[in-house]
Amino acid sequence: MTEPKTAIAIQGLEKVYPGGFRALQPIDLEIYQGEIFALLGPNGAGKTTLINAVCGIVNLSAGQITVNGFDHCTQYRQARSCIGLVPQELTTDAFETVWNTVSFSRGLFGKSANPALIESILKRLSLWDKKDNQIRMLSGGMKRRVMIAKALSHEPQVLFLDEPTAGVDVELRKSMWDQVHELRETGVTIILTTHYIEEAEEMADRVGVIHKGKLLLVEEKNKLMKQLGKKEMVFELQHPLETVPPELCGKNISLAAGGSQLVFTYDTLQEDNGVTDVLDCLKAHHILYRDISTRQSSLEEIFVDLVRAS
Ligand SMILES: Nc1ncnc2c1ncn2[C@@H]1O[C@H](COP(=O)(O)OP(=O)(O)OP(=O)(O)O)[C@@H](O)[C@H]1O
Ligand SMILES: [Mg+2]
Repeated sequence: MTEPKTAIAIQGLEKVYPGGFRALQPIDLEIYQGEIFALLGPNGAGKTTLINAVCGIVNLSAGQITVNGFDHCTQYRQARSCIGLVPQELTTDAFETVWNTVSFSRGLFGKSANPALIESILKRLSLWDKKDNQIRMLSGGMKRRVMIAKALSHEPQVLFLDEPTAGVDVELRKSMWDQVHELRETGVTIILTTHYIEEAEEMADRVGVIHKGKLLLVEEKNKLMKQLGKKEMVFELQHPLETVPPELCGKNISLAAGGSQLVFTYDTLQEDNGVTDVLDCLKAHHILYRDISTRQSSLEEIFVDLVRAS
């Protein structure tokens, strides 16, 4: 396998806002070309600050950033021109039309006019029939789509999506993610934040978890789920139980569904995961079951555990 190329290199990035609030602890992070990287973290964790720092909207207090090899500070224009940003806060001129907003945005990056490209972007985002409408006439979800169209208008190689699907209906959310996949196919690197963890679970190649300005973990999504994932084994009992039998106490066992399910939680990483013990114990105590199923914990549970433990 060839070594992945670096799209964004962040070293020792710190942000202290005027007034003294430290929003980012020293952060080191490398984003690879062509990957989808999901940044997860609770409200106020520092996701937007991190994204805005890379996009040059927030000044760094310390550290270095390169984008496709361009230094964020000394080669600012080149670095910035590689980047498309869909900001969390919608910022557009309410009285401008959709077409003008998106075309103008391309011009801002010094790119020559390309009406055919703008047309295809607007069509893909189902905005074509709104192209002559003023932004203020659009619904919230449509405004967000305009922000995405703006970000795509100058054909960025790195695309930041800061909660792009907040306030967007389910159908559109799905179509947006299809488009994100398509963009990735063309080699675009995508960094997104989302509060819908199942979205990160479905979309991301790698996941970063940030909490209180600290990057707690960066990991391949599949590895993360395998390593940190606990598995649950659910026994559908033939006869409901009122309490967990004493002989099973202390084995990470609980009752669910009104006592008709016995749920055993175990660590997939441990060699001796205790499954055999539990099965033996059930047999020895004549606890009969109709069915067994297993369930791996979701990224959401992993995330909640991580943040709680930090
Ligand atoms: N301009 C500012 N001045 C002072 N503090 C700020 C400023 N902008 C953000 N902060 C603080 O920095 C911290 C991180 O904010 P940030 O917007 O990066 O969080 P976030 O992870 O994007 O949260 P959310 O999920 O709500 O979007 C918060 O405590 C916030 O109050
Ligand atoms: Mg944010």
